[in-house]
Amino acid sequence: MNQHTRKIVDQFSKQAIYFARIPGHAEATPLLIDSARVSPHDQVLDVACGAGGVACEAARIAHHVTGIDVTPAMIQQAKTLQSQQALSNVTWHTGDVTQLPFPANNFDVVLTRYSFHHFIDPAGVLAEMVRVCKPNGRVLVADLVLPPEKIAAYDRMEKLRDPTHVGVLTESRLRELFATYGLSNLQCCGYAFDLGLDQLMQASFPNSGNTDHVRDLIVGDLGVDDLGIKVHLRDNAVWFSYPIAMVVGTKEA
Ligand SMILES: C[S@@+](CC[C@H](N)C(=O)[O-])C[C@H]1O[C@@H](n2cnc3c(N)ncnc32)[C@H](O)[C@@H]1O
Repeated sequence: MNQHTRKIVDQFSKQAIYFARIPGHAEATPLLIDSARVSPHDQVLDVACGAGGVACEAARIAHHVTGIDVTPAMIQQAKTLQSQQALSNVTWHTGDVTQLPFPANNFDVVLTRYSFHHFIDPAGVLAEMVRVCKPNGRVLVADLVLPPEKIAAYDRMEKLRDPTHVGVLTESRLRELFATYGLSNLQCCGYAFDLGLDQLMQASFPNSGNTDHVRDLIVGDLGVDDLGIKVHLRDNAVWFSYPIAMVVGTKEA
């Protein structure tokens, strides 16, 4: 396991319980399943599945869903969710998604949510997703995207909040990657994922001394929007909106 992956496991072992409880994660999940056109005969792979919210939602429709994540504590949360929902058609793997432990042309749908900004080589992970997808299957990536001029300030703040953050992509870079790896029929849509600053900080484990700095950077962005996440007040509390893009493409036959 390389140093970055060790940091991921350390950070998400701390975040696991809190991440699973963040309201709003579940709300956008049906849109994702719909966009990937998951159907009852499908074998689905959820890459960096985390606490299993997307995989379990897909399992309500698909024939079978496989979730893979490198953080055992996240997989544990996913197993708990699966048993709460009494789903029998889900299998979990603990492993690194930079080399997916599955044969080529194996899944009808390969998707990932909120993971690309954690990858040192997102193009390499996308190549792996395409490899394990069947011809005519769908590949979907959903993640925060920002205009180029917002990325430096956002990445700086986010690396302080979560030391495993690598970098946000622009939507056009994401689409470019899809085209590079032979995905066609590209469809893109977006949604806003709203979160309160207090909820975010409860689920955050910055390196010591950085908590106040992160809060200050977000609060200081009220009415400025250097970070690109539209910081605003709601009932006197600080909230913001992550702009999420979902890109879906078909693997050419
Ligand atoms: C922000 S969470 C998203 C979880 C889930 N996809 C969701 O949308 O709820 C990011 C997840 O990516 C996982 N992750 C990051 N890098 C990984 C890698 N190289 N291999 C496997 N999992 C990874 C982390 O363990 C974490 O569970």
